[in-house]
Parts: sequence; structure tokens; C-alpha cells
Amino acid sequence: MEQSVQHEVDQILSEFRLQEEDLHVLMCRMQSEMERGLRLETNEEASVKMLPTYVRSTPDGSEVGDFLALDLGGTNFRVMLVKVGEDVEGQWRVETKHKMYSIPEDAMTGTAKMLFDYIAECISDYLDQQNMKHKKLPLGFTFSFPVRHEDIDKGILLNWTKGFKASGAEGNNVVGLLRDAIKRRGDFEMDVVAMVNDTVATMISCYYEDHQCEVGLIVGTGCNACYMEEMRNVELVEGEDGRMCVNTEWGAFGDRGELEDFRLEYDRVVDEASVNPGQQLYEKMIGGKYMGELVRLVLLKMVNENLLFGGEASDKLKTRGAFETQFVSQIEGDSSDFKQTSNILHTLDVQPTPRDCHCVRLACESVSTRAAVMCSSGLAGVVNLMRQNRGEELLRITVGVDGSVYKLHPSFKAKFHAMVHTLTPGCEIIFIQSEEGSGRGAALVSAVAYKMAALIGH
Ligand code: BGC
Repeated sequence: MEQSVQHEVDQILSEFRLQEEDLHVLMCRMQSEMERGLRLETNEEASVKMLPTYVRSTPDGSEVGDFLALDLGGTNFRVMLVKVGEDVEGQWRVETKHKMYSIPEDAMTGTAKMLFDYIAECISDYLDQQNMKHKKLPLGFTFSFPVRHEDIDKGILLNWTKGFKASGAEGNNVVGLLRDAIKRRGDFEMDVVAMVNDTVATMISCYYEDHQCEVGLIVGTGCNACYMEEMRNVELVEGEDGRMCVNTEWGAFGDRGELEDFRLEYDRVVDEASVNPGQQLYEKMIGGKYMGELVRLVLLKMVNENLLFGGEASDKLKTRGAFETQFVSQIEGDSSDFKQTSNILHTLDVQPTPRDCHCVRLACESVSTRAAVMCSSGLAGVVNLMRQNRGEELLRITVGVDGSVYKLHPSFKAKFHAMVHTLTPGCEIIFIQSEEGSGRGAALVSAVAYKMAALIGH
């Protein structure tokens, strides 16, 4: 690449580079928001809501049998049947047949009634297929949005995220919306016993393999983490004993201005064009819902400065959302002399030179690397807070992780792990990837809740 062009491309991308000091600053700000979120008098104004989940550290065994698990929170809705049983070592569970349903745009952005009617329709279809319509199964619902719980099976949706906008859901009990939709259909019955966030489901599903798993992390369409906090610090819930899982909802970090000195023009454009401007600002710098779009905006900037594609952008490239997040993974994983990269660019009606391909790859790397290290400052904040609250010299902890960005991007994981380790002296962290965590976790939490309900005679 010519020196001057290289220099100018570098200049544009250098804005994405964060130093360790920056990440330390971010981590400290995140921690202070988390502490404010935990406290009763400051919870209201904290950007990081630290929502109690009513998932506790001391489950008294669990029910055995079939559970239906629902998973709503990304672009697809999934229904699955999970068999929970016991073997000599404690728990085992087998997932049988899941089915994926794509959520039509009008169900995502219409009314809550339309969305939940659609969900009930999918469950009905699944039960037909499994020949299980007659059974009243206990149901666990993984609902991956910020919910203020009153109990494990009751909680109001605070706000939608990730492009969802169905009206009439915010401020309402989500389990109630689901029960009402099932009642309206009237062709099957369900016993909704638990609702959990996907971070919680992920943590729980990994906990059964590794009892040190007390953190759940999602880096997919959205980004969030949960962890086990000492009950005495969870001021929003009465009681001092044991631990409760707290859903941090850290995606909203920055919504009170804490990220202003880090957000770039591209972040502002992405935010302004979203259905929830001003909200989830940290998530918008990391999550897969936004990563491709950030890259597209950087490419347009380079085109405008005459550094890319001969200074001409195709109409497709000028279209919002046209650069998918999976392209970022594919381009960074391209080891074929840019064959894959140019194929992708062809689908966007661009005829790239090898130099163009090189620049596009650099843009992808800049955006995804910033996402990885920003995310590491959040997780380091959580882990360091746990160590501090537990007063431990050395904290040994396992983090259960799920999400397409974490799992599918070729280098996100390695960069993320490395920076987390740098930022957490005195902690020994193991990462395990969850498989089907959303469904299995929801079923496992439900199995415990079901047993408890039986014990207290509900
Ligand atoms: C939601 C969280 C969820 C995360 C990952 C965010 O947009 O607010 O509840 O855990 O996405 O799915």
C-alpha cells in the first residue's frame, strides 16, 4: 500500500485503539455503576441495573422429568424439550429436539399481544409435532431482556433491547403476557415456573459441569453478564444469607454519559439510527447486532476520503445493515488470499482490489478488537468486584459463555481472554463455552423451582 494511503487509513482506525489505561478507567467506571446499581438508594439512577434474579445459591434438589424450554432474545425464537433426571453424580439432562422459529418483523415491532400470540402459536406447532399437546408441562422461559423480578416466575420488562419494540410489553409482567397468550389460544396448557435471562441460563447450565461457574456471559446479538453476589450486598432483596444471581444488564453502561469520551462518530450514527437511541450504549460498541454496521460506517468514511474502492461506494454499501456481522468473522478468518473477502464484497456490488481487501480487513479488525477489549473491561469489573466482596486473596472462578460473537469470530475470544487476565490480578479465571445453555439452563432452573413450589405446597 502506498505510504500516504496507509498512513491515512491508520489514522482513521487508530481511534478504535484502546490502551490498557483506558480499559482500566472503563473497568473502574463500570464497577462504580455496578455498586450503585446494587444499592437501594442509588439503584434508580444507576445505568447498570444489577437486577436480582431470585436464582439462589442453595438449590434443594430438583424435580425430575420433562420440561419445555423457550428461548426468546435474538433473531430466532426456540422451543425445546429437556429431560431432567438424576444419576449418581447428581444431575443429568438430555435435550430432545429443539425447533427454531424466525420472528417476523411485524411481531418484533407490533404489539406485545401480536408477539406473544406468535410465541404461543410456535409452542402449539411444536407440541403438535411432538405429539404432546395433551400434557401440561412445566415450562422455563429464557427471556433475554432487562426484567425487574418480583420472584422467579414474575417480573416486569424494563425496556426492550436488540431491535425489539413490541408495544405494550414494557412495564408489564412478562410471564403474565405469556400465560394470557396461551389462554387466548386455548389449545394447550403450560405451567410457567421460571423466567431467566440468557446469561443466567448459561451460568446455570455450566454450573452443572463446573461448580465454580458463578458468572454467565453472553456476547452475541447483545452483550451482558450475570454473577453470584452475596445476599447482604443485594439490597433490593431482603435477607442476608447465601448468594443470589444478579443480572448486571451492563449493556446499558454509558447511558448516563460514562462512555462519552470513548464513543466515536460511528457509534453515534449507529445509536441514532437504532430503535432505542441513547440506550444500551456499551452493548452497541460490542454486540453482534451492531458490529457489522460499525464496520460499514468506517468503510464509508474511507471511501469518502478516497482511500477505498476508488472513492465510490455502491448503493448496497450505502444501505444501512447491508454489512452483516458474520462478514466481519468471515473476512478476519479469510486465509485464502482475500478470496472470501472479495466474494463478500462482490455481494455488496463492489469490485475490490487486493489493497481494498486489505483495508476492509483492517477495518473489521479494528472494530472487533475494540469490542473484545471493551468487553474485557466489563468482565474484569465483575470478577474484581466478586473478589473484593468475598474478601478473597485469590479468587478462582469459572465463567460460562455463549453468543455468536464469542463463539464464531476467529480472534475475539483470544483477545478478550488475554485482556481479562491482564486486568484481574489475584484471580484465576476459567472460561467454558455453554452448549444449548439457554434451553438447558431454563429447564434446570425450572426443575429446582418446581420442586420448591411442590415443597411449599403451591
Ligand atoms: C439484554 C440482556 C441480554 C443480552 C444478551 C441485552 O440486549 O438487555 O438481557 O442478556 O442482550 O442477549
